[in-house]
Amino acid sequence: MAIKKRSLRVPTRGRVPLAELGQAGDAGARAHYDDPAYYTKAYASRRSDVRLYIELAAEYGWPVLEFGVGNGRIALPLARTGIDVVGVDLSEPMLEDLARQLASEAESVQRRVRWQHGDMRSARVEREFPLVIAAFNTVLHLYEDGDIEAFLANVRQHLAPGGRFAFDWSVPRPSELARDPKRSFGAPPFRHPTRGRVRYRERFEYDPIRQVLLVEMQFHPERGAGWTVPLTHRQFFPREMDAWLHHAGLVVEHRFADFEREAPGPDVDSLVYVCRRAEDPPRAEPAG
Ligand SMILES: C[S@@+](CC[C@H](N)C(=O)[O-])C[C@H]1O[C@@H](n2cnc3c(N)ncnc32)[C@H](O)[C@@H]1O
Repeated sequence: MAIKKRSLRVPTRGRVPLAELGQAGDAGARAHYDDPAYYTKAYASRRSDVRLYIELAAEYGWPVLEFGVGNGRIALPLARTGIDVVGVDLSEPMLEDLARQLASEAESVQRRVRWQHGDMRSARVEREFPLVIAAFNTVLHLYEDGDIEAFLANVRQHLAPGGRFAFDWSVPRPSELARDPKRSFGAPPFRHPTRGRVRYRERFEYDPIRQVLLVEMQFHPERGAGWTVPLTHRQFFPREMDAWLHHAGLVVEHRFADFEREAPGPDVDSLVYVCRRAEDPPRAEPAG
């Protein structure tokens, strides 16, 4: 979420320092997912990625394995389209919310979704998949070199011969990484699903050595005490991501900009990569 309006100087006391954040499983990787109702509301208008993942499943097949399934923002629409999904996630609140939502779906949809609590770096699902996905910045929760290596090795282990790994992530923007960490940036007030009308601000702090960006979400309700939520994202520059994939024995077949299958240009916000194992042949394109 890039918010640039109404800059304000804010005190620095009472915050979790960035130096203590940015490890898999810590508050920066979890806190944002402790509130699934807010998560659902905040990203309700995000639809183009859902559409693309449905198209990819139609092209490459299913069941789909989704690492970082969350509360099913992608998995539920996949299942409603007739696609079987297995999800893995580290957040119990998100998985509980997925289960709650699933309970009100048609039985045919309920049968298509399976999930397990686990860490994407190590979780094992006892089968191989024609399509493995990690949607909406899930890979930005891989902070250390060993985390990335372990995750990509795990993806490979779950790919069926000829299978594809598709994922998307926000491309770092130098101007955003350079924002003053002593300032916060306001957005219009909104109605929080459980706390009523809330004023909202964000503060950004970047560690250029670890390449970890902290987004500190600041919530100020009209009644009661405010709260802050840290969200830490590893920043992957595209050439660096290419190198990690190559190192893991994965070949990038497609690079799409912003879910529209456009070639990436200088204004790209998110990249979508579709990869195959290096030992698998490229897919024969339909004649036409
Ligand atoms: C931005 S959310 C994406 C959720 C869902 N795919 C979507 O598109 O809405 C990232 C998800 O990754 C999960 N996650 C973070 N670190 C993880 C890890 N090490 N292993 C498994 N899941 C993790 C979070 O709990 C969260 O549900």
